[in-house]
Formats: sequence, structure tokens, C-alpha cells
Amino acid sequence: MRRGGPARFYIEAMPTLIEHPLVQHHLTFLRDRDTPVSAFRERLRALGRLLTYEAIRGAELALYPTPTPLERMDAPRLKEGYTVVPILRAGLALADGALDVLPEARVGHLGLARDEATLRPDAYYENLPPDLAGGHVLLMDPMLATGGSAVAATRRLIGRGARRVTLIGVVGAPEGVAAFERAHPDVPVVLAALDRGLNDRGFIVPGLGDAGDRAFGTN
Ligand code: PRP
Repeated sequence: MRRGGPARFYIEAMPTLIEHPLVQHHLTFLRDRDTPVSAFRERLRALGRLLTYEAIRGAELALYPTPTPLERMDAPRLKEGYTVVPILRAGLALADGALDVLPEARVGHLGLARDEATLRPDAYYENLPPDLAGGHVLLMDPMLATGGSAVAATRRLIGRGARRVTLIGVVGAPEGVAAFERAHPDVPVVLAALDRGLNDRGFIVPGLGDAGDRAFGTN
């Protein structure tokens, strides 16, 4: 894991980049335009597992009295509760991976669709667990392009009481990372890769296309 990356001229853009070989391996299948829809979803889910594993590497543990079949012991469990929040739609498969490694997590949903002309996010759905204040929210979206969706989603989570949020994504553009870190400087960002930039339609390049469309076969 390292801080920073190719976008070193954006001084505020310093996500944590996960360079684990498995992360980079799965990412390449997402980038490949010939990867079919079911494989695309499966690779996103695999990345959800691995990126979540890295994102909570520093989590605190607490000891709980636990009866093994042979005797009682004080055994460690995660101290904080977790809420996994995918940004619809593309965050869904990533969130499935997070739940593979955090099966006890609660799940909230935020529906945001980017207007293709303005590139601004439109909120169309929200269903979040109550009392977000007590635990750690993992906000999941594979793409951080302009950053508008992640900024709006994080603002909503904080508005609903969340105190500890981590953004987990797959590919970011320097512009999006910088915008996110300007808006939410205290929210850590975990990514698999920081790409070159945005094209004139607001797509990350080289990127992986439109993750929502590719995950659900709507392209
Ligand atoms: C895409 C992507 C992110 C967002 C990133 O979603 O999955 O949510 O755009 O762009 P931004 O950083 O510029 O806001 P889209 O709106 O296409 O919806 P979808 O996931 O339903 O396809």
C-alpha cells in the first residue's frame, strides 16, 4: 500500500493505492473491453473483498468471552460495527465483496445517477440504517471520475450522522480525487489505481468504461 501516485502534481490528491498483485490482476480484467458481463461482476466482487481487507487493516479489536468446544477464552473481534453503502448501481458488486469479508455488516443504499450533459449527480434513492454515528461506514463506488457522486454521497452520510467514513473505489481520476479530498479532507480514500485523467465526456482514461453499464449489461 502506498500514498500518492502518478498524480503527484495534485498535491491534495493522495489516496491510498493498493498495489497487491491480486488487486492489479483483477483490475486488468475490468479494464479489458472483452471481459463479459458476468466476469466483470465477479472481478468487481473480488476487488470488493481485497480492497475492504486493506481498508480495515488498522481496525481495532476487542476481546469477547468466547466458548470454544473445549473451554472459554477471551477472543478478538472487530470493535466497531460496519455499514457498507454502495452507490447504485456500480457499487453493488463491490459491496457484495465487502460483505463476503464482513458478513455482519449492515447495508445502506444510495442511488445517484450522473447527468450525461452536466456531469452532476442526481440523487434518486436513499435507504440508510439509522444511527450511523456509532460505527464505520464503507462507501463503495468503483469510479471516482469528477468526484461529484462520491462527494454528494459522503455529504449525505455525514448529514445522517456518520462520523467515520472510508471511500473504497477501484479507479480514480486525479481531478476526482482532488475534488473529493477538498470536500472531505478527513475521509480516507482507498483505490486500486489512479489513472491519467478525464476525457471530454467525463470518463476516466484509460479507465474501464462505464462500470454500471458493464456490470449489468446495459451498454
Ligand atoms: C458512474 C460511476 C460513479 C459515477 C462517477 O455512475 O459508477 O457512480 O458515475 O462519476 P463522478 O465521479 O463524475 O460522479 P453512473 O452515474 O453512470 O450510474 P450507474 O452506476 O448506475 O451506471
